[in-house]
Amino acid sequence: MVLIDGCGCFFSWLLCCLLSLPMVVNGLGVNWGTQTSHPLRPISMVEMLKESGFQKVKLFDADERILNALKKTRFEVMVGIPNDMLATLSGSTRAAQEWVSKNVSAYVKDGVNIRYVAIGNEPFLPSFNGSFLKTTLPALENIQSSLVKAGLSNQIKVTIPLNANVYQSSTSFPSGGNFRSDIHDLMVSIVKFLSDNGGIFTVNIYPFISLYSDPNFPLEFAFFDSTSNPIDDGGTQYTSVFDANHDTLVHALQKNGYPNIPIIVGEIGWPTDGDMNANAINARKFNEGIVNRIISGKGTPLRPGPITAYLFSLIDEDEKSIQPGNFERHWGIYTYDGKPKYQLGIKSANTASLVPIKDITYLDKQWCVFKSGAKLNDPQVGPSVSYACAQADCTSLGYKTSCGDLDAQGNLSYAFNSYYQKNDQEPIACKFPGISELTDKDPSTETCKFEIMVDIDVDSAVRWNIFSIPTTLALSALITYTLTIM
Ligand SMILES: *[C@@H]1O[C@H](CO)[C@@H](O)[C@H](O)[C@H]1NC(C)=O
Ligand SMILES: *[C@@H]1O[C@H](CO)[C@@H](O)[C@H](O)[C@H]1NC(C)=O
Ligand SMILES: *[C@@H]1O[C@H](CO)[C@@H](O)[C@H](O)[C@H]1NC(C)=O
Repeated sequence: MVLIDGCGCFFSWLLCCLLSLPMVVNGLGVNWGTQTSHPLRPISMVEMLKESGFQKVKLFDADERILNALKKTRFEVMVGIPNDMLATLSGSTRAAQEWVSKNVSAYVKDGVNIRYVAIGNEPFLPSFNGSFLKTTLPALENIQSSLVKAGLSNQIKVTIPLNANVYQSSTSFPSGGNFRSDIHDLMVSIVKFLSDNGGIFTVNIYPFISLYSDPNFPLEFAFFDSTSNPIDDGGTQYTSVFDANHDTLVHALQKNGYPNIPIIVGEIGWPTDGDMNANAINARKFNEGIVNRIISGKGTPLRPGPITAYLFSLIDEDEKSIQPGNFERHWGIYTYDGKPKYQLGIKSANTASLVPIKDITYLDKQWCVFKSGAKLNDPQVGPSVSYACAQADCTSLGYKTSCGDLDAQGNLSYAFNSYYQKNDQEPIACKFPGISELTDKDPSTETCKFEIMVDIDVDSAVRWNIFSIPTTLALSALITYTLTIM
């Protein structure tokens, strides 16, 4: 009796302590992008990451403020080299040494746990028109030799984050996988270099994009462990596009003589707005799927060991180009103001939940809306909405998006408010000629949030530059937005 009691007590103590301490999920990382008009304080972001149980962070450059905030933390950090630096770093060993000295050695000395250097970001995307084909491998070689010279090559590995479209399958099954024919030899040289130097293969896999670009794509297969219609590839069963895609890469590596090079997933995620399949329910289902995979230690059919993956992404970025699609600004598991969009309901429990960023201050409860009584056919309407949407963000207005159900006035109000908030509620940013006004009544609906901007601390972030609204908006600006929003 006493023994059992003792055990019970011990277990409830254990449970209580596990629940109150953040548990780190081994192998779980997150991409921290910075293309936002109102960046939150890196120190607060790091606190949130600690409490939420992440182990790894991946950066797209070597941002000084972020790296300073990561000093003396346990995070394993991947620093990145933007594509536009590849030419310089490929042409000059001295430039590469300086990059390593300034952006790696200096921080390592100060207690930043840098573990990877990413050379470029998806440099072989067809949309780059081959701009980085000649410079990526030489830059990789120069950075690796600089790390060796700095005595850091044992602890810091080089890699190139590549989009999954660097390989393809000739048969539409994973077993037909090989590198894309236009870059086949280059890919083999890169893999050889990585393999010879203890580097890793980093791949970004996006089932959402498969679905977005092919309306006939089976939705269930985009998630994990679907039970319907597994694909049989010569006896190996595939139940998700993630596994099938990942193993197409494994086949490509095997075919070219590198069956064992380590693979990590550099970006994986699902957006929550800007497209009919981009919403919190799907995003949560998908991200829970990958996180539970990581926790379970179960890999893919061809690589059954544990997976390392970095969620894409940490926070919504309102300055990202929407050329890939309106969803592009909505990949965050956190909103622009540092609130988790959903919990990851991680199965084996005891893992931390996503916590909000603390100490966020907002501007006033004030919104800029379409003036009551103004006419929808006012000639200023078209150019105004066009201007507001081009400068700010209207990607939540669209078919089956979060604000897709607004009426015409609502659409205009959304556009005006977005512009007003992005400009830190400057009075001048709510002066759309005769057709806008301020209100303290929140125009948000159940699904559609009219944001209030966060008040960023001037010292710690770059302020967005205010654009004053041209007094006579040229009618030639009346472009696509007018057509789609009205
Ligand atoms: C270090 O990284 C920053 C941010 O990516 C970049 O602007 C800077 O040029 C780099 N320093 C050197 C010496 O290359
Ligand atoms: C690639 O080529 C297309 C068509 O010529 C052009 O529109 C686009 O701007 C180019 N992109 C880059 C990154 O050079
Ligand atoms: C509001 O804008 C959306 C997105 O462009 C459009 O689909 C919808 O038809 C608009 N609503 C009205 C009532 O104009």
